[in-house]
Amino acid sequence: MLYKYQDYQESCEVIRDIIGDFQPETALILGSGLGFLADEVEAPVYVPYNYVPHFKGSTAPGHKGRFVFGKFCGKNVVFMQGRLHCYEGYEMEEVAFPIRVMKLLGAEKLVLTNAAGCVNREWNPGDIMLISDHIRLFGFSPLTGPNIPEFGTRFNDQSEVYDAGYRRIAAEEAEKLGITLREGVYMFFPGPSYETPAEVRAARVLGADAVGMSTIPEAIFASHAGMKILGFSLLSNMAAGVQNKKLSEEEVLEAAQASSEHFSALVRACIPKM
Ligand code: HPA
Repeated sequence: MLYKYQDYQESCEVIRDIIGDFQPETALILGSGLGFLADEVEAPVYVPYNYVPHFKGSTAPGHKGRFVFGKFCGKNVVFMQGRLHCYEGYEMEEVAFPIRVMKLLGAEKLVLTNAAGCVNREWNPGDIMLISDHIRLFGFSPLTGPNIPEFGTRFNDQSEVYDAGYRRIAAEEAEKLGITLREGVYMFFPGPSYETPAEVRAARVLGADAVGMSTIPEAIFASHAGMKILGFSLLSNMAAGVQNKKLSEEEVLEAAQASSEHFSALVRACIPKM
Protein backbone atom coordinates (compact mmCIF):
# COMPACT_ATOMS: atom_id res chain seq x y z
CA MET A 1 0.00 0.00 0.00
CA LEU A 2 1.34 3.43 -0.93
CA TYR A 3 -1.05 5.68 0.96
CA LYS A 4 -2.55 5.92 4.44
CA TYR A 5 -5.87 7.53 5.31
CA GLN A 6 -3.94 10.47 6.73
CA ASP A 7 -2.34 11.16 3.32
CA TYR A 8 -5.76 11.60 1.76
CA GLN A 9 -6.75 13.90 4.62
CA GLU A 10 -3.61 16.01 4.17
CA SER A 11 -4.31 16.48 0.46
CA CYS A 12 -7.89 17.35 1.28
CA GLU A 13 -6.84 19.96 3.85
CA VAL A 14 -4.48 21.76 1.45
CA ILE A 15 -7.26 21.99 -1.15
CA ARG A 16 -9.78 23.02 1.51
CA ASP A 17 -7.55 25.98 2.43
CA ILE A 18 -7.79 27.16 -1.20
CA ILE A 19 -11.48 26.53 -1.93
CA GLY A 20 -12.84 27.56 1.49
CA ASP A 21 -16.28 26.12 2.24
CA PHE A 22 -17.10 25.31 -1.40
CA GLN A 23 -18.77 21.86 -1.54
CA PRO A 24 -18.38 20.00 -4.84
CA GLU A 25 -21.37 17.72 -5.41
CA THR A 26 -20.22 16.12 -8.66
CA ALA A 27 -16.68 15.23 -9.77
CA LEU A 28 -15.84 14.94 -13.46
CA ILE A 29 -12.72 13.47 -14.95
CA LEU A 30 -12.13 14.88 -18.40
CA GLY A 31 -10.42 12.49 -20.79
CA SER A 32 -8.79 13.17 -24.16
CA GLY A 33 -10.67 15.75 -26.20
CA LEU A 34 -12.93 16.94 -23.36
CA GLY A 35 -10.51 19.05 -21.32
CA PHE A 36 -12.02 22.22 -22.79
CA LEU A 37 -15.23 21.68 -20.77
CA ALA A 38 -13.36 22.90 -17.70
CA ASP A 39 -13.15 26.32 -19.36
CA GLU A 40 -16.94 26.57 -19.02
CA VAL A 41 -16.83 26.46 -15.22
CA GLU A 42 -18.21 29.67 -13.66
CA ALA A 43 -16.13 31.43 -10.99
CA PRO A 44 -13.38 28.81 -11.36
CA VAL A 45 -10.81 28.13 -8.69
CA TYR A 46 -7.78 26.22 -10.01
CA VAL A 47 -5.66 23.85 -7.99
CA PRO A 48 -2.71 22.38 -9.94
CA TYR A 49 -1.99 18.76 -9.01
CA ASN A 50 1.62 19.58 -8.20
CA TYR A 51 0.41 21.96 -5.48
CA VAL A 52 -1.25 19.13 -3.55
CA PRO A 53 0.80 16.88 -1.24
CA HIS A 54 1.01 13.20 -2.29
CA PHE A 55 -0.21 13.99 -5.81
CA LYS A 56 1.61 12.93 -8.92
CA GLY A 57 1.79 15.18 -11.99
CA SER A 58 -0.04 14.37 -15.22
CA THR A 59 2.33 13.83 -18.18
CA ALA A 60 -0.03 12.50 -20.90
CA PRO A 61 -0.52 14.60 -24.08
CA GLY A 62 -3.63 16.78 -23.92
CA HIS A 63 -3.94 16.46 -20.13
CA LYS A 64 -3.50 19.72 -18.21
CA GLY A 65 -3.04 18.51 -14.66
CA ARG A 66 -5.25 20.60 -12.42
CA PHE A 67 -8.52 20.62 -10.50
CA VAL A 68 -11.11 23.21 -11.45
CA PHE A 69 -13.70 23.98 -8.78
CA GLY A 70 -16.83 26.03 -9.51
CA LYS A 71 -20.36 26.01 -10.98
CA PHE A 72 -21.21 24.06 -14.10
CA CYS A 73 -24.72 23.60 -15.48
CA GLY A 74 -26.11 24.84 -12.17
CA LYS A 75 -24.17 22.38 -10.00
CA ASN A 76 -21.16 22.70 -7.74
CA VAL A 77 -18.50 20.63 -9.45
CA VAL A 78 -14.86 19.69 -9.37
CA PHE A 79 -13.32 18.86 -12.72
CA MET A 80 -10.09 17.00 -13.16
CA GLN A 81 -8.61 18.61 -16.23
CA GLY A 82 -6.28 15.77 -17.07
CA ARG A 83 -5.84 12.44 -15.31
CA LEU A 84 -3.03 10.02 -14.54
CA HIS A 85 -2.47 6.68 -16.29
CA CYS A 86 -0.57 3.55 -15.29
CA TYR A 87 1.53 3.81 -18.47
CA GLU A 88 3.06 7.03 -17.13
CA GLY A 89 4.73 4.81 -14.53
CA TYR A 90 2.15 5.19 -11.77
CA GLU A 91 0.58 2.46 -9.67
CA MET A 92 -3.19 1.93 -9.87
CA GLU A 93 -3.46 3.47 -6.40
CA GLU A 94 -1.60 6.61 -7.48
CA VAL A 95 -3.80 6.95 -10.56
CA ALA A 96 -6.96 6.61 -8.47
CA PHE A 97 -5.73 8.72 -5.51
CA PRO A 98 -7.64 11.92 -6.45
CA ILE A 99 -10.99 10.08 -6.28
CA ARG A 100 -10.74 9.62 -2.52
CA VAL A 101 -9.60 13.21 -2.08
CA MET A 102 -12.63 14.48 -4.05
CA LYS A 103 -14.85 12.20 -1.98
CA LEU A 104 -13.41 13.70 1.24
CA LEU A 105 -14.11 17.15 -0.21
CA GLY A 106 -17.79 16.18 -0.51
CA ALA A 107 -18.29 14.74 -4.01
CA GLU A 108 -20.70 11.79 -4.00
CA LYS A 109 -21.26 11.66 -7.77
CA LEU A 110 -18.68 10.97 -10.43
CA VAL A 111 -18.63 11.34 -14.21
CA LEU A 112 -15.80 9.44 -15.90
CA THR A 113 -14.92 10.12 -19.52
CA ASN A 114 -12.27 8.73 -21.83
CA ALA A 115 -11.30 8.09 -25.42
CA ALA A 116 -11.26 4.39 -26.28
CA GLY A 117 -10.78 1.97 -29.15
CA CYS A 118 -13.96 0.41 -30.54
CA VAL A 119 -14.02 -3.40 -30.41
CA ASN A 120 -17.66 -3.83 -31.41
CA ARG A 121 -17.75 -4.32 -35.19
CA GLU A 122 -21.30 -2.93 -35.50
CA TRP A 123 -20.29 0.52 -34.26
CA ASN A 124 -18.33 3.40 -35.79
CA PRO A 125 -15.46 5.72 -34.90
CA GLY A 126 -16.88 8.88 -33.34
CA ASP A 127 -19.70 6.99 -31.55
CA ILE A 128 -20.22 7.61 -27.85
CA MET A 129 -20.52 4.60 -25.56
CA LEU A 130 -22.21 4.65 -22.20
CA ILE A 131 -20.19 2.33 -19.96
CA SER A 132 -22.47 -0.39 -18.55
CA ASP A 133 -19.72 -2.45 -16.93
CA HIS A 134 -15.99 -3.05 -17.10
CA ILE A 135 -13.33 -5.78 -17.27
CA ARG A 136 -10.08 -5.44 -15.35
CA LEU A 137 -8.17 -8.66 -15.71
CA PHE A 138 -4.73 -7.08 -15.99
CA GLY A 139 -2.97 -5.01 -13.40
CA PHE A 140 -3.68 -5.11 -9.69
CA SER A 141 -6.73 -3.40 -8.27
CA PRO A 142 -6.00 0.02 -6.70
CA LEU A 143 -7.50 -1.56 -3.56
CA THR A 144 -4.63 -4.06 -3.25
CA GLY A 145 -3.06 -3.88 0.22
CA PRO A 146 -4.60 -3.21 3.63
CA ASN A 147 -8.16 -1.90 3.37
CA ILE A 148 -8.89 1.65 4.54
CA PRO A 149 -12.26 1.14 6.28
CA GLU A 150 -12.99 4.89 6.37
CA PHE A 151 -13.61 4.58 2.62
CA GLY A 152 -15.24 1.16 2.25
CA THR A 153 -15.27 -2.55 2.96
CA ARG A 154 -12.55 -5.11 2.21
CA PHE A 155 -14.58 -7.09 -0.33
CA ASN A 156 -16.82 -4.52 -1.94
CA ASP A 157 -19.71 -5.37 -4.23
CA GLN A 158 -19.24 -4.48 -7.88
CA SER A 159 -22.58 -5.67 -9.29
CA GLU A 160 -23.51 -2.16 -10.41
CA VAL A 161 -20.41 0.02 -10.61
CA TYR A 162 -22.08 2.27 -13.23
CA ASP A 163 -25.37 3.47 -11.77
CA ALA A 164 -28.45 2.16 -13.60
CA GLY A 165 -30.42 5.35 -12.90
CA TYR A 166 -27.65 7.51 -14.36
CA ARG A 167 -27.53 5.26 -17.41
CA ARG A 168 -31.25 5.82 -17.96
CA ILE A 169 -30.73 9.59 -17.68
CA ALA A 170 -27.90 9.45 -20.23
CA ALA A 171 -30.03 7.42 -22.66
CA GLU A 172 -32.93 9.88 -22.34
CA GLU A 173 -30.73 12.93 -22.77
CA ALA A 174 -28.95 11.42 -25.78
CA GLU A 175 -32.30 10.74 -27.42
CA LYS A 176 -33.46 14.33 -26.81
CA LEU A 177 -30.23 15.60 -28.39
CA GLY A 178 -30.51 13.20 -31.35
CA ILE A 179 -27.19 11.57 -30.43
CA THR A 180 -26.70 7.85 -31.10
CA LEU A 181 -25.62 6.41 -27.77
CA ARG A 182 -24.07 2.95 -27.65
CA GLU A 183 -23.97 1.02 -24.40
CA GLY A 184 -21.32 -1.54 -23.57
CA VAL A 185 -18.39 -2.95 -21.66
CA TYR A 186 -15.04 -1.16 -21.32
CA MET A 187 -11.94 -3.29 -20.91
CA PHE A 188 -8.76 -1.97 -19.34
CA PHE A 189 -5.39 -2.46 -21.04
CA PRO A 190 -2.31 -0.99 -19.37
CA GLY A 191 -0.77 0.49 -22.54
CA PRO A 192 1.12 2.56 -23.55
CA SER A 193 1.24 0.52 -26.78
CA TYR A 194 -2.13 0.14 -28.42
CA GLU A 195 -3.44 -3.42 -28.32
CA THR A 196 -2.47 -6.05 -30.87
CA PRO A 197 -5.20 -7.39 -33.17
CA ALA A 198 -5.03 -10.69 -31.24
CA GLU A 199 -5.59 -8.84 -27.95
CA VAL A 200 -8.56 -7.04 -29.47
CA ARG A 201 -10.05 -10.37 -30.66
CA ALA A 202 -9.49 -11.76 -27.15
CA ALA A 203 -11.21 -8.71 -25.63
CA ARG A 204 -14.20 -9.27 -27.93
CA VAL A 205 -14.48 -12.93 -26.95
CA LEU A 206 -14.42 -11.87 -23.29
CA GLY A 207 -17.34 -9.51 -23.83
CA ALA A 208 -15.67 -6.12 -24.31
CA ASP A 209 -17.06 -3.47 -26.65
CA ALA A 210 -14.25 -0.97 -26.10
CA VAL A 211 -10.62 -1.00 -24.95
CA GLY A 212 -8.71 1.76 -23.20
CA MET A 213 -5.96 2.67 -20.78
CA SER A 214 -7.81 4.58 -18.07
CA THR A 215 -11.04 4.97 -16.08
CA ILE A 216 -11.10 1.62 -14.29
CA PRO A 217 -8.68 2.53 -11.47
CA GLU A 218 -10.85 5.56 -10.69
CA ALA A 219 -14.10 3.59 -11.03
CA ILE A 220 -12.89 0.94 -8.56
CA PHE A 221 -11.93 3.52 -5.90
CA ALA A 222 -15.18 5.41 -6.40
CA SER A 223 -17.37 2.32 -6.22
CA HIS A 224 -15.51 1.15 -3.09
CA ALA A 225 -16.27 4.53 -1.50
CA GLY A 226 -19.97 4.33 -2.43
CA MET A 227 -19.91 7.05 -5.08
CA LYS A 228 -22.49 6.91 -7.89
CA ILE A 229 -20.82 6.73 -11.31
CA LEU A 230 -21.71 7.69 -14.85
CA GLY A 231 -19.11 6.67 -17.46
CA PHE A 232 -18.71 7.54 -21.14
CA SER A 233 -16.22 6.44 -23.76
CA LEU A 234 -15.68 8.39 -26.92
CA LEU A 235 -14.85 5.68 -29.46
CA SER A 236 -12.14 7.61 -31.26
CA ASN A 237 -10.99 4.75 -33.51
CA MET A 238 -11.72 1.15 -34.38
CA ALA A 239 -9.38 -0.92 -32.19
CA ALA A 240 -6.33 -2.54 -33.81
CA GLY A 241 -7.10 -5.12 -36.46
CA VAL A 242 -10.83 -4.29 -36.72
CA GLN A 243 -10.04 -2.38 -39.91
CA ASN A 244 -7.06 -2.90 -42.16
CA LYS A 245 -5.42 0.27 -40.84
CA LYS A 246 -2.65 1.18 -38.41
CA LEU A 247 -3.34 3.35 -35.35
CA SER A 248 -1.61 6.65 -34.75
CA GLU A 249 -1.70 8.79 -31.64
CA GLU A 250 -2.38 11.94 -33.72
CA GLU A 251 -5.38 10.37 -35.43
CA VAL A 252 -6.82 9.18 -32.14
CA LEU A 253 -6.48 12.66 -30.60
CA GLU A 254 -7.86 14.33 -33.73
CA ALA A 255 -10.88 12.01 -33.80
CA ALA A 256 -11.51 12.72 -30.12
CA GLN A 257 -11.45 16.47 -30.90
CA ALA A 258 -13.77 16.02 -33.89
CA SER A 259 -16.51 14.38 -31.79
CA SER A 260 -16.05 16.60 -28.77
CA GLU A 261 -19.09 18.77 -29.55
CA HIS A 262 -21.58 15.89 -29.28
CA PHE A 263 -19.77 14.45 -26.35
CA SER A 264 -19.72 17.68 -24.39
CA ALA A 265 -23.38 18.41 -25.20
CA LEU A 266 -24.35 15.07 -23.68
CA VAL A 267 -22.28 15.66 -20.55
CA ARG A 268 -23.81 19.14 -20.12
CA ALA A 269 -27.31 17.66 -20.46
CA CYS A 270 -26.73 14.89 -17.91
CA ILE A 271 -25.15 16.92 -15.07
CA PRO A 272 -28.30 18.80 -13.96
CA LYS A 273 -30.33 15.55 -13.92
CA MET A 274 -27.92 13.55 -11.78
N1 HPA B 1 -6.75 1.44 -27.44
C1 HPA B 1 -6.50 1.85 -26.19
N2 HPA B 1 -6.72 3.08 -25.79
C2 HPA B 1 -7.23 3.95 -26.66
C3 HPA B 1 -7.51 3.59 -28.00
C4 HPA B 1 -7.26 2.25 -28.40
O1 HPA B 1 -7.48 1.85 -29.55
N3 HPA B 1 -8.00 4.69 -28.62
C5 HPA B 1 -8.03 5.68 -27.69
N4 HPA B 1 -7.56 5.24 -26.51
